[in-house]
Amino acid sequence: MSATCRIQFPGTSHSAVTLARGSNLSEHLTVENSPVLFGCRTGICGTCLVRVEGVIPPPGDEEQDLLDIVAPGDKKARLACQLDLAADIRVEVPDAP
Ligand code: FES
Repeated sequence: MSATCRIQFPGTSHSAVTLARGSNLSEHLTVENSPVLFGCRTGICGTCLVRVEGVIPPPGDEEQDLLDIVAPGDKKARLACQLDLAADIRVEVPDAP
């Protein structure tokens, strides 16, 4: 397994970002390098809702509780601020400009 993970943003003009495995997305993604917007960065506000393709650790109970409210039934929905990278992923932002 490689020590880095590539994050792609299909359907946007943003280039892929490469981060160390285990990195938390909210510590590295900015409005300059990604289409993901963050608010609280603590898993409370739901601003950072994204859809993720790829292998990532499953949501914790608190993240799942919020996902059940903001994206009920969507198995790919995740809160970007709660994601720790485990592999290459593709991130879709539902309301990306
Ligand atoms: S930034 Fe608020 S839930 Fe992720």
